[in-house]
Amino acid sequence: MRKFVSFALCGVLIAAFILFTHAQMSDKAQLGRELFHDPTFKGTIKPGKTKGYATGLSCANCHADFDDTANPDGVIRAGHSVVGVPHRGEAKGGMIKAADFARAAGGGGFCYQHFLHRIPGPEVDPTAIPEEHAEALMAYFEAISGDNKGPQFEIAMLDDDAKKAAGEKLAAMSGDAENGWQLFGRACVVCHPSPYKAGIGPRLVGTRAPRNIDAAVLRWATKIRGGGTLMPFYAPDILSDQDIADILAFARQELENAGK
Ligand code: HEC
Ligand code: HEC
Repeated sequence: MRKFVSFALCGVLIAAFILFTHAQMSDKAQLGRELFHDPTFKGTIKPGKTKGYATGLSCANCHADFDDTANPDGVIRAGHSVVGVPHRGEAKGGMIKAADFARAAGGGGFCYQHFLHRIPGPEVDPTAIPEEHAEALMAYFEAISGDNKGPQFEIAMLDDDAKKAAGEKLAAMSGDAENGWQLFGRACVVCHPSPYKAGIGPRLVGTRAPRNIDAAVLRWATKIRGGGTLMPFYAPDILSDQDIADILAFARQELENAGK
């Protein structure tokens, strides 16, 4: 009997040890986790306001590090969850693939330069992220993904004409301003703390109504679907056409009442 008890105890201890070591992330993945949430990227991104300097954004501002399709938290992030990144094999609609894929942290290397460093899109080198940091981010993505392939989506990179056409279509739709305000709160406040206050993005509603409200609403539409210099685009599976039309109804209401 004693023998059996110590045998069982041994089994429990071994099981506990296995659970414990699995619950612990590797040092590399832990570094990746810290980088993911840190706008200074462990201090390697310099402070400042011009090209090549920190914007104040972190990866976590635009991507969930959990499966936000299965377990939504209500926040609307411009990018998809990074759960499943290691399974994808290519990023940015096929622009980043093969050996570059891991070296560019599964596409995160583009975001690192563009959104965290303010490097203009055409000048971005997605493999310029330090190798050690790319490896750490990938180790983190692997740790949080396991077998989960994450959200399935296709990225269509819009050219200027396609952005303009999308904006015109959206601006012609009607929407619900009340719902638009809620969507604004869930999606935009990371960078526009309110429509009347500047943050990482500019103030959107000034102290008086613009002379041409239709033109201003069209500018909103094109920016949301197409993105800007630093502003990210919102893909249709993240903000539907109707979602954007609702935000535009809210924008129109606020622009008309600006300063009142
Ligand atoms: C300002 C918002 C923003 C920030 C900050 C940002 N990203 Fe992104 N990221 C996007 C958008 C938008 C896309 C394109 C849509 C998508 O793929 O989710 C994207 C794409 C990606 C992809 C490729 C997904 C694919 O298959 O195309 C990865 C991986 C990624 N980002 C990781 C990161 C990492 C790591 C960081 C931090 C260094 C980061 N992102 C910072 C918005 C952002
Ligand atoms: C990651 C930061 C970020 C997020 C999130 C963001 N914006 Fe922006 N936005 C900016 C920046 C920076 C600019 C300045 C111009 C540029 O980068 O293109 C801008 C510009 C704009 C403009 C143009 C202002 C003008 O006067 O022409 C509009 C409109 C706008 N944003 C609306 C939105 C809406 C609506 C959302 C949410 C759906 C949103 N933004 C989310 C950063 C952001």
